[in-house]
Amino acid sequence: MTERNILCIGAGYVGGPTMAMIASKCPQCRVTVVDIDSERIAAWNSDHLPIYEPGLDQLVRLSRGKNLFFSTDIERGIRENDIIFVSVNTPTKTFGLGAGLAADLQYWEKTARQILEFSQSAKIVIEKSTLPVKTALAMERILDSGGKEIRFDVLSNPEFLAEGSAVQDLEAPDRVLIGSRETEAGLKARGILADIFAQWVPRERILTSNIWSSELSKLVANAFLAQRISSINTISALCEKTEASVAEVSLAVGMDRRIGSKFLNASIGFGGSCFRKDILNLVYLCRNYGLNEVADYWEMVIRINDYQQERFIQGMLGAMFNTLAGKKISLFGFAFKANTGDTRESPAIYIARRLLEERAIVVVSDPQALKNARKDLSGNEGVVHYVEDPYSAAEGCHAIAIMTEWGIYKDLDFQRIYDCMEKPAFIFDGRNILDHRSCFEIGFNVYPIGKPPLTHF
Ligand code: NAD
Ligand code: UGA
Repeated sequence: MTERNILCIGAGYVGGPTMAMIASKCPQCRVTVVDIDSERIAAWNSDHLPIYEPGLDQLVRLSRGKNLFFSTDIERGIRENDIIFVSVNTPTKTFGLGAGLAADLQYWEKTARQILEFSQSAKIVIEKSTLPVKTALAMERILDSGGKEIRFDVLSNPEFLAEGSAVQDLEAPDRVLIGSRETEAGLKARGILADIFAQWVPRERILTSNIWSSELSKLVANAFLAQRISSINTISALCEKTEASVAEVSLAVGMDRRIGSKFLNASIGFGGSCFRKDILNLVYLCRNYGLNEVADYWEMVIRINDYQQERFIQGMLGAMFNTLAGKKISLFGFAFKANTGDTRESPAIYIARRLLEERAIVVVSDPQALKNARKDLSGNEGVVHYVEDPYSAAEGCHAIAIMTEWGIYKDLDFQRIYDCMEKPAFIFDGRNILDHRSCFEIGFNVYPIGKPPLTHF
């Protein structure tokens, strides 16, 4: 493969791991990751990476300082590299038109303008961030507005990695999607990017498409995944009314190969930085095109997710004699899923805030996410405590609520935990990961999701 100079703008959960993988698989390429956040860049250059991801430390160590560099010098990065990934954040807009729905494209547009300003030679610009369909058109318009005699080819290469398994997902992706204009130049740029991934991804998994299909596929993939979770969560509510078990229903339904077994775990709802924002983005796009029924359909996925979280709180209240005031509740887990310290949109944030509204005292425990949890719940000093060790976190509590499916919670000594709690002691298993029968036999009143509770009353 030809030697390439590759830049990634945005050193976050996607930019950092993705570029570390490219650098390790393509030793002939020189890969630079830049960010405006100097603290984040310093962390990437240190022994304490800014994000926790299994296997990432080793991956970064393999190439850092050889063909992988982290820097804040964006101008130089743009000047010296001919392939530029843009992997900046695209959160939901909080102001103006489309607030609460549309993607906030200010970081993305700033990057486009910087690329235009500092480029002195032809560039392939790759949308790695998740963006509304048709964003590439806006990118092209900005890049072509400078009157410079420089060629810019815009590609879409959405990222499908999931946090907690990012390294594995990057190493062996189900597919790599590359969208381009179907012009001679577009196809050539597409081929250059495909050759990079082909260094380790089998060619049949490198999918190419027109640029709009590529942009849209990313939003749709997330919407479909989230839709499965909301679907099974609606059924969990019905199971609780009918003495069916949602785990048994998921198993029976998922064994049909046409349906498949993944993403059918009922829970307190999905979290993470993307599902909610990407579905809202899809809803906004549909409304914009006058497709109100389509927008309503996808909006329900979010509404069911909100409903599931509120249902969890109402279940706690009902079980604990309709008052949580002054009661100590320990949240086991705060990350939005296991194997990450990320708490963005974590259902635990909503649950903790609702518990505080009910005047409960909240003890937060998590092996990786306490730093973020402190930020998320700041302003509640005195009524929220942060304790990493689950045994200490449970001491003197009236209830434990499982928020994150961390493996360590399955193997705890629940007799020891029961002995140090207030009685009657409650467990609310928001992830259905515990052995409910044995917790019940110890003495706990156990409330799973989508299964009849096991109580001593
Ligand atoms: P992030 O917030 O972790 O990282 C984005 C980084 O971009 C930040 O460090 C920020 O400082 C930097 N940035 C913003 N504006 C900049 C600028 N003008 N110049 C240089 N740096 C700038 O976000 P993320 O989780 O990595 O997500 C990035 C994109 O990838 C989003 O569009 C997201 O939807 C998508 N995505 C995320 C995941 C995931 O698992 N987190 C997976 C697939 C796709
Ligand atoms: C998700 C997608 O899985 C990735 O393909 C995508 O690239 C990424 O979003 C993105 O665009 O950001 P991620 O949010 O990191 O990845 O994690 P997931 O494994 O999808 O979990 C999302 C949420 O759903 C978590 O809160 C998880 O606990 C919950 N979940 C997942 C369930 O409640 N039930 C399930 O069966 C599966």
